Amino acid sequence: MQSPPQPSAATVVILATGGTIAGTAASADDHVGYTAARLGVQQLLAAVPGLAGQAIEAEQIAQVDSKDMSFDLWRQLVQRVEQHLARPEVAGVVVTHGTDTMEETAYLLQRVLAPAKPVILTGAMRPASAREADGPQNLADAVRVAREPGARGVGVVFAGTVFGALDVRKTHRQRVDGFGAGDAGPIGRLDGASLQRARDWPGGTALGTALLDRPWPRVEIVASHAGATGALVDALVAQGVDGIVAAGTGNGSLHHALEAALRTAQAAGVAIRRSSRVPDGLLLPTGHDELPASGAPTPAQARIELMLELMALRR
Ligand code: SIN
Repeated sequence: MQSPPQPSAATVVILATGGTIAGTAASADDHVGYTAARLGVQQLLAAVPGLAGQAIEAEQIAQVDSKDMSFDLWRQLVQRVEQHLARPEVAGVVVTHGTDTMEETAYLLQRVLAPAKPVILTGAMRPASAREADGPQNLADAVRVAREPGARGVGVVFAGTVFGALDVRKTHRQRVDGFGAGDAGPIGRLDGASLQRARDWPGGTALGTALLDRPWPRVEIVASHAGATGALVDALVAQGVDGIVAAGTGNGSLHHALEAALRTAQAAGVAIRRSSRVPDGLLLPTGHDELPASGAPTPAQARIELMLELMALRR
């Protein structure tokens, strides 16, 4: 059971999962050929002298390149975050995480926990061994936001900007400010030590962690593109897929051959959601949509939403 932070709550718990923030390369100039998830959480903390003496607890949950995120690790992370949030002395939780699937983990945490305290994900675009590594500043900022009075919900802190978990997505492959929130915009920006708020923290109803103990459905993402066919959809249906997110073009439009296969799959009982390859903007109804649109911003987040929906139907 979560409760809002007590006025005396002072502790920030850092849960480390790996990623580039914990990555190292042979050369301080190498931002690309590094190995993610090498340094432990104490080494990450040691790189941020400003955190010394603060009430911080640190725990190594995993050590993964986030492209390899698994359902088991997601379940473990969500449960651990929930346990720490239930402690009255904890003001908030920071999760260090690879950037590649950060938008997925943030989305999952928000939908399952909808926490009354802040849960802040952060990471880095450059490895810890880089001459000008971005991880230490991001970690300092994330701890700062986890202590922000009135902060709640799951956010991502990157390059001095705070994004809400239901809007955030990775937007650049190299830049240190490689995250955005599309038309929603950021929750706020850090101006030195103060947070300039632009909009509300994420809300909604928590689906609850018990859901994650149910079998995870198989939901796959299939993209629409020039020359698309229904072959992948047909193969997935033959394998017993539970759901398919179609990453459409533009406003979620689909190649006619792919759409026909998706309609057949839907008629056979497979749950279908339309999303878009285009990261920003809404999926607006056209009046002749045959397949339902997802409200989640990216195909990967739409997949999580559909998995949670299907899990809720399972006993
Ligand atoms: C990862 O996602 O673990 C590697 C890439 C990154 O953190 O930027």
